[in-house]
Parts: sequence; structure tokens; C-alpha cells
Amino acid sequence: MVESPLVKTLLTTSAPEAAEFLRRGELVAFPTETVYGLGANAFDAAAVERIFVAKSRPADNPLIVHVASIGDVARLTREITPLANRLIGAFFPGPLTIVLPRSADVPDIVTGGLETVAVRMPRHPVALELLGAAGFPLCAPSANRSGRPSPTTWSAVIDDLGGRIACVLQGKATEIGLESTVVDARGDEAVILREGGLPAEEIAKVARVRFPAASEEAPASPGTRYRHYAPSAQVRRVVHPEEVRASRDAAFIGFHHPKGAADFARCRVVADAAEMARELFAFFRDCDASAVGTIYVELPAEEGIGRAIRDRLERAERR
Ligand code: TXA
Ligand code: MG
Repeated sequence: MVESPLVKTLLTTSAPEAAEFLRRGELVAFPTETVYGLGANAFDAAAVERIFVAKSRPADNPLIVHVASIGDVARLTREITPLANRLIGAFFPGPLTIVLPRSADVPDIVTGGLETVAVRMPRHPVALELLGAAGFPLCAPSANRSGRPSPTTWSAVIDDLGGRIACVLQGKATEIGLESTVVDARGDEAVILREGGLPAEEIAKVARVRFPAASEEAPASPGTRYRHYAPSAQVRRVVHPEEVRASRDAAFIGFHHPKGAADFARCRVVADAAEMARELFAFFRDCDASAVGTIYVELPAEEGIGRAIRDRLERAERR
């Protein structure tokens, strides 16, 4: 794969200034309510190509297109199904991505050759301001090097992509901390391809929800094939924190104080699953920076945002 040329990365809080880079076909990282994204003009294939180079991302892993209006959804897709209309009405803007048949306007590189396109309208005011200033939809995967945990702060973006992208539009730490929920909305059931910031229980209030069978998941959402969301340290999922053995080489994050908490290299006790979601990826990065060997994570209950956390942990532990 081609290496990124070294560039100077500008830090700014000005959306109009960041939008100038996008107009020139350059990459801009920006905050959303889920995680930071790495944006490029979705209609500029050469700009989109740069995303794959900067992240070292496999070319067959398609990108989510971020929009500021329903008019943009219509331009990117061939059909907005009744189900998609219901989901848009209930959850746009927000942490939901819907997959629909793509229109001819969408460059092949965006969809990895698929006949579908993934679309999301973020609700973060800075993301919406950037989309407004640019005037075109933005392709944006999470702004990390491929395989690393998604960035929840602008400094995590710099750690991974500093010197490889033109600009970082700075915002606060992200509110949710996990990526959006991805739903195939082509049929009459919402098929959940990736659990995320919008809990399946919420979607079930407006639509029939289904999880794909293992056999259909891989072709439906190519990104699920890759190792993801993972720190360098070995993640170990824990059901009973009292069974974890503290050591200077290990870290713990969970809902209860483990025995010998002070003997861990890092120990973080959170109040609930929402706080765990918000803190998890930054905790992973912090552990990697201090060369922790094993990270123990107490599993949240399998409900609400807890389901998405469990999904990310399962992927991180598998290696
Ligand atoms: O919260 C988020 O979704 C963040 C922010 C920046 O919006 N973005 C994000 O993008 O997580 P990324 O590229 O890291 O993950 C996108 C996921 C991948 O698993 C990809 O395979 C899937 O969405 N995807 C994209 N287009 C698809 C399509 N046409 N059909 C099925 N899955 C698709
Ligand atoms: Mg990602």
C-alpha cells in the first residue's frame, strides 16, 4: 500500500477554515457525537482515496457518507424505503447509519464496489457546521489508523494521523465514545450490521429489528471482517472482577473495585455502561502508551449501549 507523504497538520477550531482544505481535496478530521471522523469530499474520488492511504485501510472496506440534509440522502441513494423514512424521522440527526441502494453519483471507491451506500447525519454542532461550510457530503471513517481504537479526542487523532492529514478541526471529547449503529434499511426489517451508539431497543420502538445470521453478515458489512477497535495490549473480558489478579503489567476498567486496585498499572471504576462507552477507547490508548500487557474489562449487561461495548470487546479480544 502507498505510504502517506509527510504533511503539516493544522489544528483549528474554525469550521470555515477546515472546509477550505476539504474544497482543495484534502483530509480534515472532525468531532462527531460518536467518535472523531476523517472527512473527505464524498464526490471527489481522489480525495477519498487519500483516506485509505492515511489510515492504511483495506480498499474493500466501504465508508459512511455524512450529510447535513435529507436532500443529500436523496442524492446519494436510489431509493429511500418506507423503513428508511421511519428511521430518518426518528433518529436523524444522531448515532445511526442507514444502508440503502446507492445512486450513480456515489464514486465506487466510497462503497468498495458495493451496490449500497451507508449514510449518516451526525448531530454534533461542529460536524454540522463543517458540513454546512463545505456544502457537500463527507465520507468519514473513524479517524484512527486502521485496526486501532477509534479516537474520542483530537489529541488521539494527532497520535495516529499527525503528519498524514491536512487539518484537525478541534472539539471536546466525544459524548458517546463508540461508533454509530449501522442498519441495513433496504427491506422492511431493520437489519443491524454493527451495534453502536443507538441501542437496538430504541430502533425496535419504530421498526422490526433483526440481527443477520453469521453467514450473511460478512458480505453485508465488510468492515466486520477486520480486526478492529483493539489496543496493542491483550483485552480480557471479565464477569467476576474479584477473580482478576492485580499486577503492574495489567489494567482494569469496570463497575466494581477489583481486589488490590492500587497494584494495577491503571484502574478505572465507572458508574455505568454509558460512562464505560465514553471512556473505553481513551483507556485503551492510555494503557498502550504505558505499555500495559493485559487489560481486564468487566462486561456490562447485554442491554442498551452495553451490547455495543460487548461487541467491541469481543472483537478486541479475538486477535
Ligand atoms: O460513528 C461512526 O459511525 C463513525 C463516525 C466518524 O461517523 N464512523 C465510523 O466509520 O465508525 P468506520 O469506517 O470506522 O466504520 C464504518 C462501518 C464499517 O464496518 C463498514 O464496513 C460499514 O460501516 N459500512 C460502510 N458502508 C457500508 C455499506 N454500504 N454496507 C454495509 N456496511 C457498510
Ligand atoms: Mg473505524
